[in-house]
Amino acid sequence: MRAKTLVAVAVAAALSLVGCSSGAPAASQSASESASAAPSGGAGGEVGVFTWWADGSEKVGLDALVKLFGEKYPNDTFVNLAVAGGAGSNAKAKLASELANGNPPDSFQGHAGAELQDYIRADQIEPVNEVIDSLGGSSVFPQSLLDLLTVQGNIYSVPSNIHRANVVWANPAVLKKADITAVPADLDAWLSDMEKLKQAGVSTPLSIAGTWTQVQLFETVLIADLGVDEYTKLFAAGANWESDGVKKAVDHYAKLLSYANTASDGDDWPGATDAVIDGKAAYNVMGDWAVAEFTLKNKTDGEDYTYFPVPGTDGVFDFLADSFTLPKGAKNAAGAKDWLALIGSADGQKAFNLAKGSIPARTDVPATDFPKYQQSAMEAFKTNKIAPSIAHGAAVSQAWNSDISTAISKFYGSKDQATLIADLVAAAQKNAA
Ligand code: GAL
Repeated sequence: MRAKTLVAVAVAAALSLVGCSSGAPAASQSASESASAAPSGGAGGEVGVFTWWADGSEKVGLDALVKLFGEKYPNDTFVNLAVAGGAGSNAKAKLASELANGNPPDSFQGHAGAELQDYIRADQIEPVNEVIDSLGGSSVFPQSLLDLLTVQGNIYSVPSNIHRANVVWANPAVLKKADITAVPADLDAWLSDMEKLKQAGVSTPLSIAGTWTQVQLFETVLIADLGVDEYTKLFAAGANWESDGVKKAVDHYAKLLSYANTASDGDDWPGATDAVIDGKAAYNVMGDWAVAEFTLKNKTDGEDYTYFPVPGTDGVFDFLADSFTLPKGAKNAAGAKDWLALIGSADGQKAFNLAKGSIPARTDVPATDFPKYQQSAMEAFKTNKIAPSIAHGAAVSQAWNSDISTAISKFYGSKDQATLIADLVAAAQKNAA
């Protein structure tokens, strides 16, 4: 299948994710049954796993998995190949060169959707149908999610979790300084609240970090101004990236940046979320891996922090999913399959997602096992419209993401709206069918 068709398939599959969700136990297989299906002991040897969950709250989720891996597969030795940098900002380049040099890890993290299909197209990963089948296949994973991992009948990774990207995290004590008590209904109302905060002496109403966090913020503004259907069409052949809706989004985005701190490209996301935690900023738009950061800093949901969908995106779940692969030429493929089986098991998904802030990709992990935020995300995933994330590989290939990132980074310096639109048009022409 051609590259561009694959992207279209990914987007179509992302759209059809609506309504399939975690939360309800599947009738066919319980959590304990699936866990007991795992072979005991494991294949043995070292299992090198590549992620970007290298430190801080990012590592807490990985640690939870590693602990369980050690318990379930005592013959295997986990080797942590993590490279720090949110959204894989450093890891992906390192991984690309390891794969090109014929030195693959035994398994690596890749986003469901267009990004994963990059690796499939480059013939760098093997099908893992067997592992998915032994885990219960579409009786435990939503078929529409499996479709994002499938090319020509083969499934190429095991999903570990689903994250939501369009979440505003807020500090109620800071909002109080400007008497803000209600959630803003749309972007204009949100911008007025930011102005009120400025007037009340809050110098950074909105915290941002390096380029990928800006791409993520921009994608949520696109969703708000275009609506989920028009937003999703942006990734299809011949899409219009200079419509009035896109222009409006670029203008809103420019206004939002005027209320943000100064950021440098390498600034990572924990700093921006910590600015909210520390009361230095009122708001941060961040994926729900932020929950792990609030938890790490001993903050209490509803007291120390609150959250709501980016204004204008209520009813939309800006979606991304981490998944794990079996690279071609993995030195310990059997050990890698143990790792994949652990990640895809109900026990693995519970342990990981409790620590990560995300929700299980499996449908048979009970919502009641999770705290309030994740319960709300599970409900949203079930009932909302699904939009694929740009910054986190669901909507666009790595090449397209990189072109959009370059345009957004340039805009951060220039604030030239016409040039941003021209760059986005050029990126779409180059990368879409
Ligand atoms: C995303 C990834 C998340 C989280 C985030 C910040 O791309 O899917 O699991 O790690 O980056 O690094």
